[in-house]
Amino acid sequence: MMYKKLIYVIVCSGFLGACQQQESNISSSNIVTTTQESTSLASKSVLQKGEHYYFIQGKYDKIPIVNKKYPVSKDYNPGEDAVAKAALLKLQEAMRKEGFAIASGYSGFRDYNLQSYFYNKYVETDGKEKADTYSARPGYSEHQLGLVFDLWEDEQGTLLEEPVASKWLAEHAHRYGFIVRYTPGKEYSTGYQAESWHIRYIGQEAEEIYRSKLSLEEYFGVEGGNYRD
Ligand code: DAL
Ligand code: ZN
Repeated sequence: MMYKKLIYVIVCSGFLGACQQQESNISSSNIVTTTQESTSLASKSVLQKGEHYYFIQGKYDKIPIVNKKYPVSKDYNPGEDAVAKAALLKLQEAMRKEGFAIASGYSGFRDYNLQSYFYNKYVETDGKEKADTYSARPGYSEHQLGLVFDLWEDEQGTLLEEPVASKWLAEHAHRYGFIVRYTPGKEYSTGYQAESWHIRYIGQEAEEIYRSKLSLEEYFGVEGGNYRD
């Protein structure tokens, strides 16, 4: 874990500008009808293939879906989403008011090359099988959407794991339009071990998703779990 934190700090301090454009992998607009799971709350969710990523038309907004089954195109490079960032600032402020240690630094948008850098480091350190449980392969990270933030407890990049703060976050993130994306007990669905620090901006429907106690995949009835290969 210490190694992971260190890498975040090093990269966030100077690597971002170096990672740029590649060719697109996802092209024309196709439609994929998903298997509706009995646990899903969303009626007839249809996963659509956009220019750069797959998405669901949610109740209020278009919801991009990126997981081990559904990649994002290599050249999708939107940077940090301004609406999500504004919501993040409000959430961080609320957490500080509660007395939790929340740094202003965080790990947010990561382009394809930056994700490659992280993933390859983790594979070198832990091996591919283990790395796949906590780090997305390049082209499969939600961070590439610009809608995700890993919260830090300090400016050195310690990921938020403190239990009381993590519980508060899990129970209040939806009020700011976020969900804690990888929760305990949902590894089979999300494809990743739980991450108390990784929040995904959804918008208004975060409330319904939170109350459903389902993973994002289960809520919309889209496929999750492991890579196809
Ligand atoms: N840690 C998450 C799964 C990522 O690498 O996007
Ligand atoms: Zn993350």
